[in-house]
Amino acid sequence: METFSDSVMKRTHTCGQLRLQDVGGEVRLCGWVRSYRDHGGVVFIDLRDRDGVTQVVFDLPENQDQAELQRYQLARSLRDEWVIAVGGTVRPRGEGRKNPKLPTGDIEIIGHDLALLNKSDGVPFQPDEYSSVSEEMRLKYRYIDLRRPEMTRAIRLRHQICRAMRNILDEAGFVEVETPFLTKSTPEGARDFLVPSRIQKGCFYALPQSPQLFKQILMVGGLDKYYQIVRCFRDEDLRADRQPEFTQLDMELSFCTEADVMDVTNRVMAAVCRAADRTFPERVPVVPFAEAMDKYGIDRPDMRFGMLLHDVGAVVASSEFKVFADALANKGVVKALCVTGGARFTRKEIDAYTAYAADFGAKGLAWCKLENGGFAGGVAKFITPEMQAALRGRFEAKDGDLLFFVADKLAAANKILAALRVKLGKDLKLFGEDDFAWCWVTDFPLLDWSPEENRWMAMHHPFTSPRPEDLDKLAGDPGAVRARAYDIVCNGTELGGGSVRIHNPEVQKKVFTALGIDEQQAAERFGFLLDALRLGAPPHGGLALGLDRIVMIMTGAPSLRDVIAFPKTQRGTCPLTDAPSNVDDHQLAELDLKVIVPPKPTTSGQWTNMGDLSENSQR
Ligand code: AMO
Ligand code: AMP
Repeated sequence: METFSDSVMKRTHTCGQLRLQDVGGEVRLCGWVRSYRDHGGVVFIDLRDRDGVTQVVFDLPENQDQAELQRYQLARSLRDEWVIAVGGTVRPRGEGRKNPKLPTGDIEIIGHDLALLNKSDGVPFQPDEYSSVSEEMRLKYRYIDLRRPEMTRAIRLRHQICRAMRNILDEAGFVEVETPFLTKSTPEGARDFLVPSRIQKGCFYALPQSPQLFKQILMVGGLDKYYQIVRCFRDEDLRADRQPEFTQLDMELSFCTEADVMDVTNRVMAAVCRAADRTFPERVPVVPFAEAMDKYGIDRPDMRFGMLLHDVGAVVASSEFKVFADALANKGVVKALCVTGGARFTRKEIDAYTAYAADFGAKGLAWCKLENGGFAGGVAKFITPEMQAALRGRFEAKDGDLLFFVADKLAAANKILAALRVKLGKDLKLFGEDDFAWCWVTDFPLLDWSPEENRWMAMHHPFTSPRPEDLDKLAGDPGAVRARAYDIVCNGTELGGGSVRIHNPEVQKKVFTALGIDEQQAAERFGFLLDALRLGAPPHGGLALGLDRIVMIMTGAPSLRDVIAFPKTQRGTCPLTDAPSNVDDHQLAELDLKVIVPPKPTTSGQWTNMGDLSENSQR
């Protein structure tokens, strides 16, 4: 490897900057060889850095100058992903040689200086060819994957979004405060990640599911307006929009109402959208929970398109279709949606939607087409002319449309139709790729009945304030109590949620009772918060936005993994570092822990039972 002087790295530009007006200029660029072409007598290098790609040309020298010949030979020897520094003169590309796909495509650099800064072994994949390799591979060689422009763009947008958040909150008087990672279990409803304590034998810290209790305590501490861009940890089953560690913009305000929190969130989101070159509405529609469930079947409605659900139980109550009659007799519902133009669906397409609905628990999917002024196919024969007229009216349906019906318990019917509606919206392209539809969902119930646990659970978390006018229902009719909670939703994704909190210890006690948490349990788990509430807690409230989800929506990425530099796989692993991994026996011994399952094999297929090499296991 040749040596090079530090000055070769003094860049004048990045690889995305040069244009026709720079022609004639002497420049210096550094980067990676994206591609090389040796045309015998002339070598073309596409040089890449995080800003773009610039073409560099090295000509076979016409004279016998040794240094120039050496430089030409070096240029010929360059290979993919080698790291180089180039000095040269900007010149226009000849007619027919321009590359309109590249912002720098009008120019090239005729190189008169070249330093090889580092070689690269053959890369496992080219950054540009990422789509042909598995995601596992992309994550294992994340540094290669990060070199491709889409990734760089997403990571930089994430930075710009964070900066916009910080700026707007700073202007509004918020103070960024860090809260502990090694802490006590926090109640966001997922499983905790536990960290054993070496000093306090047998005890564990929990990594925070959110800074919820600390931010409330900061309000009691008089901080007034807090925010933090903070990592949260939740051991839950992973999906495209869930990571075990993810980032929140977490906020809390004192002396506030729902409207204050929603207002500051709107301002944050407007700034985020500006940073991402998107628009944010002047006024965000507010949809009460009950209406969202009624019309969309879900508490995070995708409002980019209509196709609203209707409860048609009353219309079809006297139908002879047994499925409808049975559901209604069993305190169920019949809900339906209308697919405009859906009468053109083939039997195969209808069967595919039925199978899709079944994935969400549907026992079947009844349908009929609107044709020739009547109903045809599927369950049409059970729908009397009067019912047909009523259904046409309800859905404003016309010939050429199709109705899908689900008869089931309300929660099941909502879940199935909500999923079907979103699938139909995507399949039928009822919205554009760049459409954004925001809403606030409010008036959530405070509690949610869990049939598995046979008890009431907090819909948001146990510190959410009930609406004062509903307080006296807490003991007798807990399901009817509404919460002072709100979620912000974009395109059917919940981007953030929060609430006005309970600041009165008596109310907090009542909510714990409704949740089946007795006084001793409450004292053990949240005693420190209850103490704080008794010592001058101001009325307060807040919200947390999912930063990863925001960047995902703003970039149109299909997965959170595309907007996190080092994400985990669906199985919670990090292919780059091979975490989680086994630990030495002596580490376990220090913690007084014993692992009783066999150690996992490494990715190379060998067993990494480090214990076999340690003193303990030789005994
Ligand atoms: P919540 O649990 O609703 O509220 O979380 C707030 C936001 O965080 C994002 N989010 C996630 N993002 C990626 N992966 C996950 N596993 C994940 N889980 C949640 C979502 C969600 O809207 N302490 C309360 C907030 C408050 O009351 O102020 C809380 O954490 O975008
Ligand atoms: P079956 O009587 O089971 O042959 O069903 C007749 C039609 O009703 C089929 O199109 C089924 O998909 C549909 N179906 C069955 N159960 C339900 C249900 N619970 N809700 C809506 N449609 C159903």
